[in-house]
Amino acid sequence: MEGLIQQLKKRKNVGNYRQLKHAHSLIDFASNDYLGLSRSAQLKKQFFYEFEKAMQENPDKGIGSTGSRLLTGNTSYAERLEEQLAHFHEFEAGLLFSCGYMANVGLLSSVAKNEDVIFFDARIHASMRDGIRLSRARSFPFYHNDLDHLETRLRNVVSLGSRFVCIESVYSTDGSLSPLEEISSLCIKYGAHLIVDEAHAVGVFGPLGKGLTAEKKITNRLFAQVTTFGKALGAYGAIVLGSKVLKDYLLNFAHSAIYTTALPLHCLSTIKCAYEILPSLEKERSHLHSLKWQTVFSPIQAIKIPGNAKVQECARFLTEEGFDVRPLVSPTVKRGEESLRVCLHAFNTMQQVRRLKKCIDSL
Ligand SMILES: Cc1ncc(COP(=O)(O)O)c(C=O)c1O
Repeated sequence: MEGLIQQLKKRKNVGNYRQLKHAHSLIDFASNDYLGLSRSAQLKKQFFYEFEKAMQENPDKGIGSTGSRLLTGNTSYAERLEEQLAHFHEFEAGLLFSCGYMANVGLLSSVAKNEDVIFFDARIHASMRDGIRLSRARSFPFYHNDLDHLETRLRNVVSLGSRFVCIESVYSTDGSLSPLEEISSLCIKYGAHLIVDEAHAVGVFGPLGKGLTAEKKITNRLFAQVTTFGKALGAYGAIVLGSKVLKDYLLNFAHSAIYTTALPLHCLSTIKCAYEILPSLEKERSHLHSLKWQTVFSPIQAIKIPGNAKVQECARFLTEEGFDVRPLVSPTVKRGEESLRVCLHAFNTMQQVRRLKKCIDSL
């Protein structure tokens, strides 16, 4: 216990001690609810109707799913949803996971084996990193979005098995966009499998909100895509999209799909309804894009303010001004890369954005 207390003290001293907070009535520039779907009256209404219908169609199911998908937790509802989502995202198949964290961990820890090699962007999400660590593969980071560095890695690191490249299409820390076409071309050139986490892109980019891989027309070049429902979809859960063989493989080898309780019907019906509404949100998507802050649109805008203490002080100031903006502190980001992370939403007004910008400029 003394060891744990010492670790916590160390965190407090360097200014990155984490604590739970209650939601408050500030203007939301922090959540991942990019389209406002989680608060949407239409989604709530459709969900209640759909959930009741789903319960009637599955009278043997209760509120809980009662077991893993491979035991008592499966339903034809879940299977149909997987087919619908795979079709929408233009993949052959998909396997639902409880959340994006479990999807990345399950996918990476199971597909990459001893003899394989994983190349990953230095800024990928903790869930991909944890999945890579759990796999037995050798792994090599490449500088963030650096095509030359990735190509050097691909050229120089030999492997007896498969090679994987792991990236996010929209990076969760600073909102930077991945050069998807170029990376997918490198993967083809060097025979590597590309895995893209679309957590912050689905709903926000692409035709009908299909995401950035669809916008760039590279879905057919991917080994797997991870799509999460807790962000722009306003729901909860995730799906790994890919080939039928990949789905079958994950169902047999991905521990976070096998050894866990399946998503219950109320989660599945929220996801189904959110996807039914998603294509109709063109106005919301175009308003969101019009709130563009920097030259290239991203739903996440990062303003670099080096130093944990300094960036936390700036976030406190913005709170006093009525804005919910969260600081990104080290070690979540590298020391010196600390920043304010501004998330834009379809429900934010241009006036709110202008006022926030003015406050940030005055810092
Ligand atoms: C890029 C990325 N991938 C995966 C996840 C995990 O998704 P979930 O919140 O559904 O577990 C997150 C969420 O923080 C994320 O930002």
